[in-house]
Amino acid sequence: MDTQTRELCDKIYYLAKKKLSFLEICKRLELKDYEVIGIITLMHQEGYNIEFVNGEVVVLKTPRKAQDVYQLPNNLEHLKLLLISDTHLASKYDRLDILKYLYAKADDLGVQHILHSGDFTDGRSNRAEQVYELREPSYEGQVDYCVEKYPHSDAKTYVIQGNHDNWWYKSTGSEIVKAIAKQREDIVYLGPDVADIKIGSLKIRLFHGSGGGAYAKSYKLQKYLDTIPLAERPDILQTGHIHQSFYMKQDKTHCFQTSCLEDLTPYCRGMGLANDKSCW
Ligand SMILES: [Fe+2]
Repeated sequence: MDTQTRELCDKIYYLAKKKLSFLEICKRLELKDYEVIGIITLMHQEGYNIEFVNGEVVVLKTPRKAQDVYQLPNNLEHLKLLLISDTHLASKYDRLDILKYLYAKADDLGVQHILHSGDFTDGRSNRAEQVYELREPSYEGQVDYCVEKYPHSDAKTYVIQGNHDNWWYKSTGSEIVKAIAKQREDIVYLGPDVADIKIGSLKIRLFHGSGGGAYAKSYKLQKYLDTIPLAERPDILQTGHIHQSFYMKQDKTHCFQTSCLEDLTPYCRGMGLANDKSCW
């Protein structure tokens, strides 16, 4: 998208958020109705949370889920998975070197499915000093950084958005991981916060989570599992957000709290938050 179109999209988004009617938006921007509808369609494809519904421009409060359950292809007898999370790309503390090592290792082992439980990017916080922790402070900069630098692999990476990715959604209405995945055939975006996957008969749930540090590293995972009715529980529950690794099995569910792949940031050091770098 060129700069001029991006500016137009931002203007439409701003006016729609101010709850101006469709006709008022056309008038303000001196555009024909079909031109505005065309731009809204483009915005929706680019990941803005905006739609043209019943003759009006609607800003969606949460991103729309494309599917409830994603059925992934699998023709393997023995399924190998790589579980990663919280890569916080475009942060000065990201560890692309570890990520590249893991992807090379996954290729060597014939892994075809890599699951990522969110915070793909470091996003842009409303905490002013976060900008000093970023390699790329802009939306476009973070998209380009990820598209260019994310390791290429024979495997496909299936990813949800985490709270850091969702900051872009809150400030600009854009789903940044959707925009990245659009430019990378090996990355599949499964929506924000939570997604259910089926690989053959294996049921997997990816969940990111939100809020501050946990009372104990297992606490949020245990509480979250309790919210899923027994009959609906997955075989594997993969969670992110806590930046600490933890495994437990309860009933039939193997729970993998997946830590991060970034170094401890000054912010987290100041807050006294733990930060393990690892994968499953
Ligand atoms: Fe994170």
